[in-house]
Amino acid sequence: MPKTSERKKTTVQTFINKKAKGEKITVLTAYDYYMAKLLDEAGIDAILVGDSAANVVHGFDSTLPITMDVMVAHTAAVARGTEKALVIADMPFLSFQPSTETAIANAGRFLKEGWAEVVKMEGGIEMAATVKRVVECGIPVMGHIGLTPQSIHRLGGPKVQGREEKSRAYLMESALALEEAGCFAMVLELINADTASEITAALKRAATIGIGAGPHCDGQVLVINDILGLRKEGFSPKFLRQYADLPPIIAEAVKKYIDDVRRGDYPREEESFYNK
Ligand code: KIV
Repeated sequence: MPKTSERKKTTVQTFINKKAKGEKITVLTAYDYYMAKLLDEAGIDAILVGDSAANVVHGFDSTLPITMDVMVAHTAAVARGTEKALVIADMPFLSFQPSTETAIANAGRFLKEGWAEVVKMEGGIEMAATVKRVVECGIPVMGHIGLTPQSIHRLGGPKVQGREEKSRAYLMESALALEEAGCFAMVLELINADTASEITAALKRAATIGIGAGPHCDGQVLVINDILGLRKEGFSPKFLRQYADLPPIIAEAVKKYIDDVRRGDYPREEESFYNK
């Protein structure tokens, strides 16, 4: 892997080119400066500042409560830590659904105040007109279909989408409409792998980024906390692969610190400041 300084900057066009060449696109979420820096230096193509921050950073049970102000602050921190990866800001619940004007104003905030390069919006064909206007304003949009967590109450829980013909047809129609509206990419979340494969093949330009949508998508995204084992217990969907188990490592370090302070072993003379 070339050093960060030698790697090319990922752009929207990189996604389109990678899809055309059949090269897989890698995306992970991050919510703060230092994690963004680590992911960027490791060579990730794009960093999604997901509204999953509501769950994994702020401890809510859904993504619904997170606000624009909080998401802009997370995005700005990630952008400060990122040199080469594409920075994607996730538009929170009700920041784009009420009207096209609201969507343009809030998408613009992510670029002007959060230094994002792209925004992501949940929703299918019903969001296509809004996506088109935001793209016309010069703001690249990533779509998000399938399980859209902002509609969790309407969907009735985390069910795999695209299994029945009606659902498959809606997802295909939505993907094509979002591509037509100008989306350069879209997340396919918790979608039957056959349907996700068909959608990926049907899209000429827009790259599909799967999460729980099988191996045939143009790329994959996962939540950073999940691959590191840093999520509330009880979240272990079938699609999740955990690459590290950080909680015991963190707990061990904290216990050692507590022990050192209590024993008077921290700080030592060489870790202290004296006048001479
Ligand atoms: O908010 C998020 O992290 C997401 C990903 C799961 C795609 O939308």
